[in-house]
This record gives sequence, structure tokens and C-alpha cells, in this order.
Amino acid sequence: MSDPLLRVAGLRVAFGPREVLRGVEFALAAGESVALLGPNGSGKSTCLNAISGLTAIACGDVEVAGVRTSGWPVHRVVRHGVVQVSQSRDLFPDLSVEDNLRLGGHTRSAAEIESRFPEIYALFPRLDEQRRQVVRTLSGGEQQMVAIGRALMSRPRLLLLDEPSGGLSPQLVAETARTMTALRDRGVTMLLVEQNLGLALKAADRYLILRDGEVAEGGAVSALAGSYDDIVRAIYL
Ligand SMILES: Nc1ncnc2c1ncn2[C@@H]1O[C@H](COP(=O)(O)OP(=O)(O)OP(=O)(O)O)[C@@H](O)[C@H]1O
Ligand SMILES: [Mg+2]
Repeated sequence: MSDPLLRVAGLRVAFGPREVLRGVEFALAAGESVALLGPNGSGKSTCLNAISGLTAIACGDVEVAGVRTSGWPVHRVVRHGVVQVSQSRDLFPDLSVEDNLRLGGHTRSAAEIESRFPEIYALFPRLDEQRRQVVRTLSGGEQQMVAIGRALMSRPRLLLLDEPSGGLSPQLVAETARTMTALRDRGVTMLLVEQNLGLALKAADRYLILRDGEVAEGGAVSALAGSYDDIVRAIYL
């Protein structure tokens, strides 16, 4: 990869004496969708948080579009086009769907924000019907759509998604899979953390497996030929 959109090199993160990431290395090309896999507690969220600036790194480099972003505060990383949808979703429960979406565009002009709505509502028709509904009254799946829609408002160069299917019913997981695939088809560059392997591998071009604080293996999803057995073994055994 000559000119990656995201380059992570020698990334180390420790919480007190505990080193969670110890030399994570990988790169994403523009337009690529990559699933970051690994067992619970292996450091997947920590890795996303380190890229978005939410978690301080002990050493290593994060580069986005050729610019070193490690060490930057979160708002500057966001301005540079890296947007994270976190596990907890962080919505404003007492604001409407549309106001929550609007806040996602805060790095853009008012006119640009308004111009983004049609695309977001095309991706999530249900939100179109619920524009004025207060977010706290939405279902979990609908709130998740708002969180992804909000992240897309700023036209991110890189979207970091942490467990988009977390806590959703099988039907909504299927809907999330369709959303992820649609995003990939639109060329959104994504780093996707997902426990649901079926969803992750449907939406990703490539996978990486975190083990013992490092990227232990990775490969093209197409090379798996539809079988998850090897990958389940690689993650959990
Ligand atoms: N702020 C923190 N302070 C102390 N320890 C932390 C902190 N954040 C994460 N950890 C620890 O780092 C390890 C990795 O956590 P992380 O949340 O990155 O795992 P994960 O791979 O996302 O797991 P899961 O699949 O359960 O979401 C865990 O053991 C966790 O307890
Ligand atoms: Mg996590």
C-alpha cells in the first residue's frame, strides 16, 4: 500500500502497569472496509479510541491521509475527518433525531449540513419519518442509526465503528449489515469492530485479528470462501 489513508505503526497503549496494545501495526487504503476482530478485552475499542484521540497512547504513530494525528485532541482529529461511533453511542437523548444529526456536522458550514440530510435519510428512511422524534423515545436500533447518521454528517474520511450491532435483535442486526454494506459500496473507508462475525465479514473487504496486544493475522475476506471456521479458531483458540 503506497499511500494509505490510515497508517498505524508501533502503537502501544497501557492502563497503569497493564499493556493492552503492544506494537499494533496496520494500514487501510482509501475506500477500504476492514474488520478488526479479537476476543473480549483484546483491545479493539482501545485501538479505535487511540486512533480517534480518546485514549492517550504510550508510543507509536497514527497517520491519517499522510498527516500524523497521534497526540492530537479529539476535536482536532474529528476536524481532520476521523469520526468514531462508540459502543455507548453518546447521543443527546432529549434532542430530536434531526438535531442530533445536525450536531454531527458541527465541523461544517450550515449550508453543508443541510445538504447532507437527503443522503442520510436515503440511507435510513426510518429516520426520515422520525426527524422530530426525541431520541430517548427511539428503539435501540433506531438510536444506532442516528449515531451512524450523525457520524456521516461531516463526510468523514475515516469512519470508526465500535460494535454497531451490539444489543440489537437479529432483525436489526440484518438491517445493520445492509447499512454497513451500503456504506462500503459508497466508498466510505471503515474500520469496523464487531462481535457478529457474519456482519463483520459481510461488510469488510479485509480482516485483522488482535491477539496479545498485536495484530496476529489478517487477510482478505474473499479468501475465506464463505467459511468462518478458520477465523473463529484464529480468534478464540
Ligand atoms: N480506561 C481504562 N482504564 C483501565 N483499563 C482499561 C481502560 N480501557 C480499557 N481497559 C482495559 O483494556 C483491555 C482492553 O479493553 P477494550 O475495551 O479495548 O477491549 P475490547 O477488545 O474492545 O473488548 P470487548 O470485545 O469486550 O468490547 C480490557 O482488559 C479493559 O479492562
Ligand atoms: Mg470493545
